[in-house]
Amino acid sequence: MSQNIINARVTFRNSPIHVLEQFTIKDIENAYEQFINHSDLDECVIIQTCNRIELFGKSHQYDLEKIKKTWASITGLEVEVFNENVEFEENQEAIHHLLKLTSGLDSMVIGEEQILGQIKNSITSARKTKASGQHLNTLFDKAIRIGTRIRNSSGIGKGGISVGSMAVKLAEENIDELKTKKVLLIGTGEVSTLVAKSLQRRGYAFDVTSRTIGRSITFCETMGGRPVKFEEVLTGFNNYDVLFVATTAPYFLVTHERLTKAMSNNKKGMMILDLSNPRTVDEKVATIGGVKLMNLDQIAEMVEKNMNARLNKVKSIENIINEEVSVLEASMKRLEAEPLVKDVFKNIESLREKELQKALQMLDEKDEKKIKIIEELTKAVVESIVSTPMNNIRKASEQGNPDIVELAGKLFDYKKQKKAD
Ligand SMILES: NC(=O)c1ccc[n+]([C@@H]2O[C@H](COP(=O)([O-])OP(=O)(O)OC[C@H]3O[C@@H](n4cnc5c(N)ncnc54)[C@H](OP(=O)(O)O)[C@@H]3O)[C@@H](O)[C@H]2O)c1
Repeated sequence: MSQNIINARVTFRNSPIHVLEQFTIKDIENAYEQFINHSDLDECVIIQTCNRIELFGKSHQYDLEKIKKTWASITGLEVEVFNENVEFEENQEAIHHLLKLTSGLDSMVIGEEQILGQIKNSITSARKTKASGQHLNTLFDKAIRIGTRIRNSSGIGKGGISVGSMAVKLAEENIDELKTKKVLLIGTGEVSTLVAKSLQRRGYAFDVTSRTIGRSITFCETMGGRPVKFEEVLTGFNNYDVLFVATTAPYFLVTHERLTKAMSNNKKGMMILDLSNPRTVDEKVATIGGVKLMNLDQIAEMVEKNMNARLNKVKSIENIINEEVSVLEASMKRLEAEPLVKDVFKNIESLREKELQKALQMLDEKDEKKIKIIEELTKAVVESIVSTPMNNIRKASEQGNPDIVELAGKLFDYKKQKKAD
């Protein structure tokens, strides 16, 4: 492939939550600009979720060191940290990884739905900022379609396992008589919905809070729970025994100071499950007597224990992915010939049109029927001469022969244009 598809990633698989969160990119738009300008990438897409920060890129000649350096400068981290945490793949392996992502195979909760929506959002935002172009747009569109098809045909997402249900299970395993405890859910987003669903299903009562009481009320109308005011909660953690925290707040909501105060109120114990990344519970609260703090790392362990049914489907999905990778790779390679083929067809069409008009003028032909016959003749001649070489150029590209495509470019005097959508 003369154009390379690359993937550089830090995920929950090789980095615990306190390391992973350091790689978070805060200003995605600026990051796109930095990667395009300083990493020899001419297209890129960033996927950022609670479990992963990933960069997909397209480049004729990429430089991994430049990618790490740029990422380091965006996050303020040392380049060395990237050597320990970043996984890197190119071409076939990068495409394979993207298909694992869209089909849910690389998720912490295998088959979970959220990642597909997050990938759709990523490519939409890359398109909007023009960070992605023809190659990555095509790759992502196809990978999303394939992932959706795999999910539907395999039923991998069925069975009620989610980050939310695993968090509730973790609470059940660590707290005696959870039904008698006061439970609070902080956040009203996607993850909170999953937690609330699970609490409801298992018959637990819970309070819900969010920055605006209106959001909490609406949430509780559909998901159950009792809405409570945010300000009251922040100063009254002592009223609760279990906290589920799932917000995107860029700072700690459950601070050491607030918790120390709460625990000094004759409280025996409290369990806090922080599902956020970056975390919104200060890890120092774990040092307060009676406080048990858990985060996505422990949820990942719980997921692993509960994955048997889904794991049985993984092998057959892997087989489908392996077949799809070669088809997808061939389409990517074929794309490289498309601008040239398009250009040749366009030039020949304009030549044909010009010569046709000249001939019709010389003949002074007015008969529409005859004009149509002559026009069709010119089209047929052009088609029969050009089709075979153009298809062969496409085939050469598909089979990974960039030299032939390059030679054809020279023969047809084709000037490469920059990124086209
Ligand atoms: N989506 C997943 O698959 C997944 C899985 C595991 C963990 N996580 C992590 O879980 C957390 C929540 O994710 P999500 O998908 O549920 O996000 P989401 O749907 O965007 O919801 C975000 C929630 O955070 C609240 N929030 C934002 N800024 C806040 C602030 N400054 N103070 C208080 N509340 C604030 C929002 O409240 P408002 O309505 O007031 O804005 C909203 O309730 C994230 O850290 C994410 O990384 C996500």
